[in-house]
Amino acid sequence: MTASPFLAAATGNQGPQLPVWFMRQAGRSLPEYRTVRADRPMLESCTDPDLVTEVTLQPVRRHGVDAAILFSDIMVPLAAAGVGVEIVAGVGPVIAEPIRTEADLARVPALDPSDVGFIDTAVRQLVAELGETPLIGFAGAPFTMASYLVEGGPSKDHARTKALMVGAPELWHALCARIAAISTVFLQVQVAAGARTVQLFDSWAGSLSVADYREFVLPHSTAVLAAITDVPRIHFGVGTGELLADMAGITDVIGVDWRVPLDEAARRVGGTKPVQGNLDPALLQAPWPVLADRVRQVIRTGAQAPGHIFNLGHGVPPQTDPDVLTRIVELVHTEGPELRAAARADGVTSS
Ligand code: CP3
Repeated sequence: MTASPFLAAATGNQGPQLPVWFMRQAGRSLPEYRTVRADRPMLESCTDPDLVTEVTLQPVRRHGVDAAILFSDIMVPLAAAGVGVEIVAGVGPVIAEPIRTEADLARVPALDPSDVGFIDTAVRQLVAELGETPLIGFAGAPFTMASYLVEGGPSKDHARTKALMVGAPELWHALCARIAAISTVFLQVQVAAGARTVQLFDSWAGSLSVADYREFVLPHSTAVLAAITDVPRIHFGVGTGELLADMAGITDVIGVDWRVPLDEAARRVGGTKPVQGNLDPALLQAPWPVLADRVRQVIRTGAQAPGHIFNLGHGVPPQTDPDVLTRIVELVHTEGPELRAAARADGVTSS
């Protein structure tokens, strides 16, 4: 048995404890983050191991979450490989010259582990500082990364990406294969340095139909996750209710956004995998008694899955009052075990 409730849940051996962490727990919701980041550009900050270590530890110290997630970004390995990318505050990733033709592919080179030596250093420092608390490594999945590369920046409808996908399938598959190789190396470096779990973010895959997802995306996400064999894998996307069974089939833990109740998500994936999620991040702004009841409801519905890692259904919004996150951690830790046990005994569901 592992001493970490998070790892126990992620490996399908959940004990009485209910682990909790938050996507984007490190970042702008924390005043101590804003102080140390100051005006340094995001991607440059991610290459400074001491800064990465400090920012990764901040939410662990403050909230007492059960896992740390490496402070980095899905764009870091692309930048390290030599792709011209910047993260513009309040906008997101911006690509200097988008990738849209066969010739453009040459501008997405392979990632060598030595390109991300700063990640190796940061992860080793973190593992030494964290003790029993596991570090989650992560990468972006091929569809989400391809969307930024093809669109040139954030997009609501991913129209250029989808047009390239169906209009030039060979180019699409070649691009995704390159991205998959980059994300794989990025994850392998983190695992080799001591990350105890990885999460593959396919944040925007929910914009696809199941048929297109299966044909154009699933093989590439499969390649990334299949290359990680030593630690449990979490796979997550937003609006992926229709894709959950396919996504769960290639991972150990399935991340769920707030749109599908966790008991229904567990049913959709066949009831065999631990789930992670799924409080609506917008509700962090609601009055505490209402929010607390929603937290309890997430715990009860999650009890219908064989394992549950409490989280939000997407990242912490920057305007979040960090004290609310601390209170959620306390509630999950104090009431979670009993609520989960009672709901498992009763078979309580969302419907
Ligand atoms: O979860 C954590 O605490 C770890 C840190 C983390 C960041 N990015 C730091 C970050 C993680 C896991 C990511 C992943 C990421 N990056 C995803 C997948 C997860 C998701 O949110 O769906 C995506 C799509 C990106 C791309 C990206 N990077 C976006 C959309 C943005 C926000 C732009 C903005 O300013 O609103 C970023 C920038 C970014 N990544 C910030 C942080 C803390 C904000 C930059 C800042 O503080 O100036």
